[in-house]
Amino acid sequence: MYVCLCQGVTDRDIENAVSDGARSWREVREVTGCAGQCGKCACTGKRVMRDAISEQ
Ligand code: FES
Repeated sequence: MYVCLCQGVTDRDIENAVSDGARSWREVREVTGCAGQCGKCACTGKRVMRDAISEQ
């Protein structure tokens, strides 16, 4: 699913960022560009990131 429509970031993109070593929201944002504009998608993006980290 799309988390950030304006940057075209999906939950898979965030999971891949975590797989590649991202461990903070700042790092995920740097890699994916998620929440760079409206910011409203940050809550969903952070949840996806936390779930991905906890599943590792
Ligand atoms: Fe892209 Fe919020 S949908 S910054």
